[in-house]
Amino acid sequence: MQVGIDRLSFYTSSFYLDLADLAHARGIDVNKFYVGLGQEKMAVPAPDEDIVTLAANAARQALQGEDVSKIDTLLFATESGIDQSKAAGIYVKQLLGLPDRMRVIELKQACYSATAALQMGCQLVKASPQNKVLIVASDISRYGLNTSGESSQGCGAVAMLITANPRILAIEPGAGLFTSDVMDFWRPNYRDEALVEGHYSTEIYLEALQKTWKDYQVQTSRSFEDHAYFCFHNPVPRLVEKAQQQLREINQLPGLEKIELQRQMLPALYYGKQSGNSYSAALYVSLASLLDQAPQNLSGQRIGFYSYGSGCVAEFFSGVVQAGYQQAIDNEFHANMLQSRKRLSYEEYERFYSYHLPQNGGECKTPVHQTSLYRLAGIKEHKRQYETLSEQAHTSIHVEMSNAERIHVRSPGKLILSGEHAVVYGRPALAMAINRYAEAIIQPQDSDQVSFNLLNLNYKDSFTIKTLREVKHQLKDKYKAFLQGGLKIRDVLQAPFQLTHFAVGSWMEHMNAKLQPGMDIKTHSDIPVGCGMGSSAASALSLLQAMAALQKVNLSKEQLFKLALEVEEMQHGTTSGLDLHISLHGGCVYFKQGMAESRPVPKFNFYVVNTGTPSVSTGECVSYVRQHHGTSPIWQTFETVTHIFDKAMQANDEIEVKAAIRDNHQLLTQIGVVPDKVQKFVAQLEEHGAAAKICGAGAIAGDNAGAVLLLADDANILSVENICKQYQYELTRVEAESRGLHLA
Ligand code: HMG
Repeated sequence: MQVGIDRLSFYTSSFYLDLADLAHARGIDVNKFYVGLGQEKMAVPAPDEDIVTLAANAARQALQGEDVSKIDTLLFATESGIDQSKAAGIYVKQLLGLPDRMRVIELKQACYSATAALQMGCQLVKASPQNKVLIVASDISRYGLNTSGESSQGCGAVAMLITANPRILAIEPGAGLFTSDVMDFWRPNYRDEALVEGHYSTEIYLEALQKTWKDYQVQTSRSFEDHAYFCFHNPVPRLVEKAQQQLREINQLPGLEKIELQRQMLPALYYGKQSGNSYSAALYVSLASLLDQAPQNLSGQRIGFYSYGSGCVAEFFSGVVQAGYQQAIDNEFHANMLQSRKRLSYEEYERFYSYHLPQNGGECKTPVHQTSLYRLAGIKEHKRQYETLSEQAHTSIHVEMSNAERIHVRSPGKLILSGEHAVVYGRPALAMAINRYAEAIIQPQDSDQVSFNLLNLNYKDSFTIKTLREVKHQLKDKYKAFLQGGLKIRDVLQAPFQLTHFAVGSWMEHMNAKLQPGMDIKTHSDIPVGCGMGSSAASALSLLQAMAALQKVNLSKEQLFKLALEVEEMQHGTTSGLDLHISLHGGCVYFKQGMAESRPVPKFNFYVVNTGTPSVSTGECVSYVRQHHGTSPIWQTFETVTHIFDKAMQANDEIEVKAAIRDNHQLLTQIGVVPDKVQKFVAQLEEHGAAAKICGAGAIAGDNAGAVLLLADDANILSVENICKQYQYELTRVEAESRGLHLA
């Protein structure tokens, strides 16, 4: 009988610090972190999060749809214990409403303890195969502000359900073991920050890898080649890359080139790069990342695992991925969770970090921040008080609505990096949110009117709710006529401000509400309109969310998406939902057939060139392309180029990214959506080492093609600026925005 991991869910805080901001605050070159440690972001727990809330949020996800009456053991692995006596898992059991008939214990041995829990859990299930064991590993890594370990902090929790005949990974018998009494990292009871001999700890980590691998080979007679992948405990990604090279060296295999090494390791390191060290959870965060991100099907493949806990205990073991594992993993949950996090400024990070619960037995209520379903509400009579938020609040965009008199919401625009037009034929696209925003500022006013002040459109007017609902219906009738072929989409809205009227009318209808009192709406946007940069999606989202917040309505992301889709369709006819997805969630996304997978936000020198609003609509371009190339094999080539782009971006390989942009440009030219003038412009840029392509529908007539995406080195930027001046095009530097819709 096989025993192993049947469900696996990862959860981390809703807040992170980008290591660029830490580098800036410390006066350090950011590449020390991004390149030297291979780390991009670290998750930072809010004052109302602890190992229990992180663990409960992970476990809740892992237990979705499960029969929990079969769970008879909960093993909680941590080295960030909150009590010297009581197991943190008991709080988790309570929060999740698990049966009383169970044993709950806490295990400690630095980052190793979750592996001990896994091996114990498997033995328990082997002994009673009808039962299940829930393992939660949850930790918060703290070294102190301005210490050498600061950049390798983080937090996170993993929950694993151990069963007979598991759906994800069967754990194999046989393991390599090693224990040695070393002081590389430890945390005496009187400290809440670890003490560490950083460089010594990395030496011991690598030495213990060698020892456990050799023992594992003796125990199992397996070779390096018997494993398709390796997952390592991940304190910093660069050390994991070194571990992989060392494992090759021990087995007399040649070392890999840096690019190849990073390409091979990225799927398993991707989540860790964004959340930092989560100690006991970190190895299993790597497993979740590998299962979610591996480009190929892993069914039947053996994975080798290296677990290391300072002090030190290490173990090398293996597992085999089960056929159909894709149905049991939680990739969508993980992608949404990472995408909806908030980036902290350095000052906010310091404030979060410096928050302490009373150390003297005093009582406190913790400040409310964005958490998932569970939060630590405070301390009373020496007892931790946990709180379960409502399901709706859990999935809603978090807007602090406490009697706010003025709501200010903003939503980012987007650029398509690769695959526009190809998405229409079910092929993938890559897109990212950028730091250009549509904003809505709303406040109540003492009348039953809705006043509009649309700053970009230079439009001011006031209407009653009744009139706006009528306008909504008139526009909806026109849209139906468009669907039946009686109207062109450009004839549905007679003026851009009508989109805002439609959004307000739709909202009022959704609420079935009279507005008492009325409201004053101001909107502004620095996203160019009609240029393929997601202006209408961002405007619809920010306006709808601001109205919901003013009326103290918690909308789930799905509800908001649906409402905004109806608004966006008035503008574009039909839409893939890509713009809305990016604007709602932020970040960088690989999008195929309605499914979105998140990607690390690229860090290249991207610019946008505005070549002017095309004289033809997106819908007209799409129809033209369908008529002339609908059945062409060119869409397969688009897909290949998007894959190359995706891989190159994840490997941070600028040369390959530029090549993919140039290939994209060639393909878009072939389908006839790049005007001659823009083709000449791009050719000139390419002569000066830059790469550029349209990033929207382009145009089938006229000179203007909307936004052009441009990637240029600092060394070439002067020539690029001169070429833009020559064409009288505006050039703007843009950066990826990891936040989606948010409070300004
Ligand atoms: P450090 O002093 O921050 O970094 O220590 P460094 O000076 O060693 O530099 C790191 C790399 O960045 C070096 O490359 C530099 O050359 C490079 P390498 O020699 O490794 O190839 N570098 C740059 N690269 C590009 N551009 C630049 C640049 N500048 C420098 N401008 C350390 C790093 C991980 C030791 C530190 O962060 C630390 O002490 N962290 C905490 C301890 C730790 O994570 N140890 C890992 C092993 S122990 C373990 O895994 C157990 C643990 O999880 C706890 C548990 O078990 O409970 C920690």
